[in-house]
Amino acid sequence: MDAPSRTTHPSLDGKIFRIVSFIVIVIILYCSTIYYKRSTAIPGHLSSSPIKCDQCRLSMIESDGWFCESDSNWQRRKLVHHAQDRRNNVTDSRFLFFQNNWESTIHCEFEQRIGRTGDGGKWVCDIHRFQQMNETNILVYSFGSNGDFSFERAIKESLPQAEIHTFDKGFFQCPDNVCLFHQAYLGNGKINNTKSLENITQEFGHSKRDIHILKVDIEGNEFSLFEELFSLSASRRKNRLYIRQILFEIHLGNDLNEQTSRRTHRLFSLFRANNYAIFHKEVNLDNPQNVFEYALLRLNAAFFVTPS
Ligand SMILES: *[C@@H]1O[C@H](CO)[C@@H](O)[C@H](O)[C@H]1NC(C)=O
Ligand SMILES: *[C@@H]1O[C@H](CO)[C@@H](O)[C@H](O)[C@H]1NC(C)=O
Ligand SMILES: *[C@@H]1O[C@H](CO)[C@@H](O)[C@H](O)[C@H]1NC(C)=O
Ligand SMILES: *[C@@H]1O[C@H](CO)[C@@H](O)[C@H](O)[C@H]1NC(C)=O
Repeated sequence: MDAPSRTTHPSLDGKIFRIVSFIVIVIILYCSTIYYKRSTAIPGHLSSSPIKCDQCRLSMIESDGWFCESDSNWQRRKLVHHAQDRRNNVTDSRFLFFQNNWESTIHCEFEQRIGRTGDGGKWVCDIHRFQQMNETNILVYSFGSNGDFSFERAIKESLPQAEIHTFDKGFFQCPDNVCLFHQAYLGNGKINNTKSLENITQEFGHSKRDIHILKVDIEGNEFSLFEELFSLSASRRKNRLYIRQILFEIHLGNDLNEQTSRRTHRLFSLFRANNYAIFHKEVNLDNPQNVFEYALLRLNAAFFVTPS
């Protein structure tokens, strides 16, 4: 006896098969472009383990293409950020300002301290991501080198294609094939013949480029430099530079008073309002109450929205 045959509708089966194949092909093509983009690395450097595009869409969007991690890890990262963020702005009169204020809220998996050991070295977030981006126009500014080019050398070693510009109020010379030196007194571009970041990018025709790393060690003028940068009017704000990492030393001055403390809170609130999260904080033991190294990473505004 014949087994009851399954009723088939050849035309319908074919249609479903074609639709399913089409969807699968689209997904494969989409994933392979993202996979390709993120898995490329420059020769001589390790490439990271492959990342599946469908696993990191949220983090890619909310980090402006910096982090690729699972949604659950990303949500956890946001909770950690927001928990610390709420504790970062305690305006009270306790002694030792940075003992009570402005801790890191995010962490980079492959953070690295580059440049000389001790005073002058800087923490950089996941430098391999710049390598993976396969960008040919990596732009690095180093403000206030005081003749020490160990940071520039280290960047050049990791990112040979980087274009590095070093600025200082004194006159120095960059090591060959590492950076270009410019003498300039950095500040808000208004007083004491200082130059603002905007003045510099205009002068060098970099206004339309991203700055991948901005390192700043300018002995107190960092306040006026960043205040000016973040105070641009709405129209100028629109085409404001995209700076991915800001690594700077902050100098409170030796007599911390009410005014400096308010100004410091305001500065960090500005960073936050402009979508920067602190990923490293380090005391400078040469002057432990007043001088700290900070490292910040630019993310998407969506990251900073308080979860409801
Ligand atoms: C980087 O991108 C360029 C085109 O923009 C391409 O020709 C080159 O092969 C890429 N490098 C790597 C290592 O994938
Ligand atoms: C330098 O920048 C400041 C503010 O960013 C601006 O007020 C000033 O006009 C600029 N100076 C020049 C020469 O462009
Ligand atoms: C400008 O320079 C003068 C003289 O060097 C100094 O006394 C003054 O404090 C400076 N002003 C600012 C705001 O840095
Ligand atoms: C931090 O506190 C100051 C003063 O209380 C306030 O003006 C500022 O908006 C606060 N910043 C943030 C990010 O909450």
